[in-house]
Amino acid sequence: MTESAVSRAQPTPTRTTRPSLLPLVLDGVSFTAGRQTLLNDVNLAFNAGALSVVLGPNGAGKTLLIKLCHGLLRPAAGSVNWSDPAAARRPDAQAMVFQRPVLLRRSVAGNILYALRVGRVKRAQRPARLQEALALAGLSAMAARPARVLSGGEQQRLALARAWALHPQVLFLDEPTANLDPAATRRVEEMVGSIRSTGTKIIMSTHDLGQARRLADEIVFLHQGSVVETGEAAAFFERPLTQTAAAFLDGRLLW
Ligand SMILES: Nc1ncnc2c1ncn2[C@@H]1O[C@H](COP(=O)(O)OP(=O)(O)OP(=O)(O)O)[C@@H](O)[C@H]1O
Ligand SMILES: [Mg+2]
Repeated sequence: MTESAVSRAQPTPTRTTRPSLLPLVLDGVSFTAGRQTLLNDVNLAFNAGALSVVLGPNGAGKTLLIKLCHGLLRPAAGSVNWSDPAAARRPDAQAMVFQRPVLLRRSVAGNILYALRVGRVKRAQRPARLQEALALAGLSAMAARPARVLSGGEQQRLALARAWALHPQVLFLDEPTANLDPAATRRVEEMVGSIRSTGTKIIMSTHDLGQARRLADEIVFLHQGSVVETGEAAAFFERPLTQTAAAFLDGRLLW
């Protein structure tokens, strides 16, 4: 499968007739473990459209923040508010791809079909959704292969395709290219770009500056459990407002 096979696979736009979940507003969110405060008084609003990147060094709290947003963790203080809380609980509302995704002991296609079934996608729609997701990931030729024999990059594309097959309004990606080489990283980034173009809101974390520069419309810069800076991506990279962000951009940040 060539590089261009991924970019040629154009997914259909997500329907916009569903009630909008966004904005997602975090109001004074903290998270603690024992006596340790791991996230401290996070106030953020994620709006529709822009691809939001949570950027920060290892241990900054990116995974915790994404899990709190997706509802996998409860804040010790503050609240995580969707504009339509009932809609946010629907199976096709939001999906997440983990830093280390777990694939089922099934074929590539079987992994996607399982997600479609659990996500209550109508049976008649499943074959088309499956083909679309496989094409988006550049995995059509590998549909029958056991998922666990795929390379790391292919597995990550499958995890992304499986999440996107539900056509979620919001897709959380936690370090989607950690442990991938530059070529595999590029292919995942192309896929993220294709998903973004369907209108799916993407909120992703990374510690990779190059990736943030390539993908982000807006940045949430996290350091030691606090949001240090937020803003439009180009402005953040050109003129960071804080010394901490400037140090991170220069590779001088110690943590
Ligand atoms: N359940 C927990 N109990 C105690 N400490 C935790 C728990 N979960 C996370 N931490 C700590 O909170 C901090 C932030 O963790 P988190 O996984 O969110 O960082 P991260 O920014 O995603 O880092 P990385 O880039 O390495 O993935 C880390 O110091 C981690 O050890
Ligand atoms: Mg993490």
